[in-house]
Amino acid sequence: MERSLIRKEVMPFLVMFGVLILATIITDALLHQFELVWIGRWLGIPGVILILLSFFYSMRKRKVIRFGKPKTLLVLHETMTWMGALLIMVHAGIHIYTILPWLALIAMLVNIISGMTGKYLLDRSRRFLAEKKEFYSQQGLSGAAIEKRLFLDATTFDLMKKWRAVHLPITLAFAVLGITHILTVLLFWQWK
Ligand code: HEM
Repeated sequence: MERSLIRKEVMPFLVMFGVLILATIITDALLHQFELVWIGRWLGIPGVILILLSFFYSMRKRKVIRFGKPKTLLVLHETMTWMGALLIMVHAGIHIYTILPWLALIAMLVNIISGMTGKYLLDRSRRFLAEKKEFYSQQGLSGAAIEKRLFLDATTFDLMKKWRAVHLPITLAFAVLGITHILTVLLFWQWK
């Protein structure tokens, strides 16, 4: 029981974060090895684009857009923010001179860890809700309808609500610091 708890809940979390750090170190080393360090300067841009694209999930959830399955968009949100963070960390590892980019980077990492905690809570509540599946099928709902309800139930689970109250302000802090960093870079841009 204890073992499966660690395997199912703690391990995926650690692996996801550990692989992110490892991938950053390897990419950074490769760029240095092949004398492509200059690329790192530009990696911040695709990184930000990936993170922005990941917000299709939030837009779908809040009915700003109507296309796409929420479940698929959430997986894309998790994957794109992970990849975006990787690119931004490689970008950051290569040239950080002032305090502002550091603050933006720390806010991003806190955001990533918070996102992973949310995923962990969501997976956990999904498991609890699996019991409900039985109940819905007894009510005669179709397989697809049951899946949809369970997904919605899991994201509205009480713990998720509390987590969201933390994740959203963190996102806001990251957004403010990130945008300020981008603006200062543009302001002091040297056209050489
Ligand atoms: C740059 C990093 C990230 C940012 C800025 C970010 C931002 C957000 C925002 C704003 C939401 C709220 C969506 C809404 O209610 O409209 C959200 C939800 C969520 N995020 Fe992230 N996130 C990041 C990274 C991650 C990562 C790395 C994961 C997991 C691997 C993740 C997993 C989730 C989950 C599970 C939800 C909740 C789904 C829900 O309650 O509907 N996030 N994220």
